[in-house]
Amino acid sequence: MPPLPLDNSPAPDQRDRLPLEAVLLGQEFGEQEGQVVDFAALFGNPRPVEIEIGSGKGTFLVHRAKARPDINFIGIEWAREYCTHAADRMARWNLANVRILRTDAEVFFRNQVPDGSLLRVHIYFPDPWPKLRHHKRRLIQPRFVGILHRALRIGGEVAIVTDHRDYARQIEWVVLNQRGFATVPFPRTYGAEENERVGTNFERKYIAQGRRFYDLAVMKWR
Ligand SMILES: C[S@@+](CC[C@H](N)C(=O)[O-])C[C@H]1O[C@@H](n2cnc3c(N)ncnc32)[C@H](O)[C@@H]1O
Repeated sequence: MPPLPLDNSPAPDQRDRLPLEAVLLGQEFGEQEGQVVDFAALFGNPRPVEIEIGSGKGTFLVHRAKARPDINFIGIEWAREYCTHAADRMARWNLANVRILRTDAEVFFRNQVPDGSLLRVHIYFPDPWPKLRHHKRRLIQPRFVGILHRALRIGGEVAIVTDHRDYARQIEWVVLNQRGFATVPFPRTYGAEENERVGTNFERKYIAQGRRFYDLAVMKWR
């Protein structure tokens, strides 16, 4: 992974910052089979929960969490450097409604996310694993989409964006074949510029390269 540039985004007075440990979840989360997380206890309130899978440097989450203090957010990211970077960013913005978790999203969802608990799951620019022999590593497979469906509450949504045409086809096929999902308009975003869909770092990089994007949003209706 290339070294991370310093995060130069403006932040409030550093005396107001949260300690990093308040944002970055420890080893007791993420890989504990059978220990379902109590989100209300984790955040200290019963507000709805949204998860971003592959939250990278946290650009999407920082904007969304600032705009929606009525929602709790978890960013799941398995690259350690990105996790620390994102958690530091949330702490500097004093965002008490965000937690960053370093783990494999599929393992966390399978073992620790309560059934019917999530308002929304965001998956932006998931790794496309373009080589045929690596397709099995793609996150969005029938098994995982079933797990996502189980984790969402009725009315909950999944929003996905990719730049990879072949993966987009797979995503559409797999997600729309999951019983109980219906397509909905793409959810409103907060940090995105006019020409952007979600305003993540990868989207910005790919816009500069002139790439085309494919998005899909579905709601769990049963
Ligand atoms: C292409 S990057 C996109 C990052 C960010 N969403 C963006 O759009 O800028 C994909 C990210 O997902 C993370 N990732 C991929 N699979 C994951 C998994 N199973 N669990 C957690 N993170 C994952 C990678 O480490 C990487 O940071």
